[in-house]
Amino acid sequence: MTPYRQFLERLRSPEPLLALAPMQDVTDLPFWTLLHARGGPDVYWTEYFRVTATWRPEKWILRSLVENPTGRPAIAQLIGNDPEALARAARVLQEYPVAAIDLNLGCPAPVVYRKCAGGGLLRDPARIDAVLGALRDAVSVAFTVKTRLGFADTAEFESLLPIFARHSLDLLTIHGRTVAQMYRGDVHYDLIAGAAARLPFPVLANGNVGTPERATEVLDRTGVRGLMIGRGCIRNPWLFDQIRAHRRGGTVVPPTGREVLGYIDDLWRVTEPPESRERLQVEQMKRYLNFIGQGVGSTPAEAEAFLHRVRRTTTRDEFFGVCRDVLDHRDPMPLRPHPAVAAAKNEMECIPVCS
Ligand SMILES: Cc1cc2nc3c(=O)[nH]c(=O)nc-3n(C[C@H](O)[C@H](O)[C@H](O)COP(=O)(O)O)c2cc1C
Repeated sequence: MTPYRQFLERLRSPEPLLALAPMQDVTDLPFWTLLHARGGPDVYWTEYFRVTATWRPEKWILRSLVENPTGRPAIAQLIGNDPEALARAARVLQEYPVAAIDLNLGCPAPVVYRKCAGGGLLRDPARIDAVLGALRDAVSVAFTVKTRLGFADTAEFESLLPIFARHSLDLLTIHGRTVAQMYRGDVHYDLIAGAAARLPFPVLANGNVGTPERATEVLDRTGVRGLMIGRGCIRNPWLFDQIRAHRRGGTVVPPTGREVLGYIDDLWRVTEPPESRERLQVEQMKRYLNFIGQGVGSTPAEAEAFLHRVRRTTTRDEFFGVCRDVLDHRDPMPLRPHPAVAAAKNEMECIPVCS
């Protein structure tokens, strides 16, 4: 069965669809593999392909599509603002095993939105209309969009909905914040619910779903077809399976400290380049640990103390020494986010230029 067919069948099944959010420099092939080994989402999104007039597919992102080891459908995300270039890119990418072509309408990085791409496009509805029209014509697998609620104000969302509806999307993912909100502040689930009720195609809710209970609450409150999850599954790669268990009314089994340690060990192994430089690899690991550390310990202070120690390490031995100190045990680790830590400046620092 083609990934497209597989995706359509999954969309038709009664269970909520659980999707991995695209995350630049994170959701690459090695990360997909680690997630899949722990249950994994129903559908994988690539990092975005940055499409310009002279675009050639980024080889490392193509690799995720060609070597996808999960057996589950993968969706290729595009970012750009040139309708012709985007349509050409979509045609090229459909020669690879993709379930859908997705357009990024949410990137809040100034370097991107000032060029009127990603979240910047939300300031130019006429351009969105042209881009969606060109892509709809070029895409014969599923065509999906990932948007925010507007650029500066959630009031803009109302005028975006008819544009999405006009182009008969196959799926719309809504990150319930504006571009100006970046990754902070309330997620407007009420606006996601309103869109899901009115649009003639399925909607996924995105933003701050970090526990199985929150997943069920958002699904029930919004009536969406499913959820897209980003930071929560870097912190807790078992989250997708935990959500499935919670929906079935089964027991949610948290990992043990040693299993979390095993995850960190796997992250080191799969992200280590062949010509690895130890110091750089430790820095690379700190980007993941900024998310994982938010769920360590039973208080914000314990999580902060762990992260503080991790940030001071410079060698592999020091890094794993700190991790073993805190995680080498058989106690359950719920990996719930401590809100005060989740808002820490360091989390923002590990979000790359465009996201
Ligand atoms: C490190 C990082 C990289 C991201 N890269 C992308 C990206 O390439 N494309 C995209 O549409 N969103 C990107 N995002 C946004 C996420 O897909 C998601 O919308 C956002 O994190 C909110 O969901 P969450 O609360 O579940 O993390 C990125 C987010 C993070 C944290």
